[in-house]
Amino acid sequence: MKNIVITGGAGFIGSHVVRLFVNKYPDYRIINLDKLTYAGNLANLKDIEDKPNYKFVKMDICDFEAFYQLMQEEHIDGIIHLAAESHVDRSIKDPFTFARTNVMGTLSLLQAAKLYWESLPEGYEGKRFYHISTDEVYGSLELNDELFTEQTPYSPHSPYSASKASSDHFVRAFHDTYGMPTIVTNCSNNYGPYQFPEKLIPLFINNIRHRKPLPVYGKGENVRDWLYVEDHARAIDLIFHKGKVAETYNIGGFNEWKNIDLIKVMIKTVDRILGNAEGHSLDLITYVTDRPGHDARYAIDSTKLQRELGWEPSLQFEEGIEKTVRWYLDNEAWLDNVTSGDYQRYYDEMYTGR
Ligand code: NAD
Ligand code: DAU
Repeated sequence: MKNIVITGGAGFIGSHVVRLFVNKYPDYRIINLDKLTYAGNLANLKDIEDKPNYKFVKMDICDFEAFYQLMQEEHIDGIIHLAAESHVDRSIKDPFTFARTNVMGTLSLLQAAKLYWESLPEGYEGKRFYHISTDEVYGSLELNDELFTEQTPYSPHSPYSASKASSDHFVRAFHDTYGMPTIVTNCSNNYGPYQFPEKLIPLFINNIRHRKPLPVYGKGENVRDWLYVEDHARAIDLIFHKGKVAETYNIGGFNEWKNIDLIKVMIKTVDRILGNAEGHSLDLITYVTDRPGHDARYAIDSTKLQRELGWEPSLQFEEGIEKTVRWYLDNEAWLDNVTSGDYQRYYDEMYTGR
């Protein structure tokens, strides 16, 4: 596979995947396709934007005609699909946008890929449609429940997870109905550099830095399973190349944290790095009204991926959180740009000369 589209490559996880592929595969042509919504930030990719095997295309994944044309012009053999509306709180306020992008956008990519690949003499030979999904489609666990496996039935609760579940079903349907070589992976919560500061970890690091309140939903007892984003990107690379068609792989690092415990680790780390006394920022913790339908616990069993493809997370959580906190504190300009909205001018300046 040589010509690869990565959708959502200007977002958090997508930018790590684009960087990995552009640096690791100089003979591939990597096309980063992104609409640049509020969550898309080309400044995330400054270090690789001049590489000869990289191209950025500003496009909405719902634009079927444009994507079909791109498939033909660029002779696309592989699609790694990350573009999505990804924030649960936004989905509660505006579910339509989530259905449009996550469901209709995914269907639009699938249909364009089907028409293009079926028109080629070799058909689906050597082609791949890899869809990046979430553990949230499995629903919510109680504290004593077994972890999510690939056999866990889907039971989404939020509009976000309902839209991702629907898109996962469409991807599998295109394999089962038309024989398209598809793969789906379901990953746990990612953390690391370049995450939009509306999500728990970057939001709280930024708030501690500015001595702003830390809004803990409910009692802070919900549990999430955290994976360093570069470990997710490495898993995506491995699965894209070595994963079996029509299979599902769960991705996670067996790393569950109660929100309030994680928040205390972040406070301790930021205070230490900033030279504050231990416990200095604990007073910022502010318990607020819970997220509606807040899933109690996610915990993912990635044994299949470890056993069949030999993947394992490279970072211990303590190391990952230290690295992450330091990255946000060392990249205050990035955080300030994103929180002020200035980052959205980057595309115009870099790509249109305006
Ligand atoms: P993100 O919100 O940081 O980035 C999403 C990207 O998609 C942005 O660059 C945005 O501009 C782009 N996009 C949105 N709508 C688009 C459209 N209509 N057309 C083209 N581009 C569009 O998201 P993320 O956290 O990097 O997540 C990436 C993918 O991974 C998503 O599919 C998400 O469901 C999945 N996922 C995320 C996590 C996580 O913890 N963040 C965990 C598991 C799975
Ligand atoms: O599990 C994978 C999912 O993880 C991905 O599919 C989603 O795209 C990603 O956004 C993430 O969803 P969460 O809802 O788990 O992430 P978030 O960072 O929004 O919240 C993490 C936990 O922290 C959750 O229990 C809600 C809580 N929280 C979040 C915010 C933003 C707070 O207590 N306060 C906050 O201000």
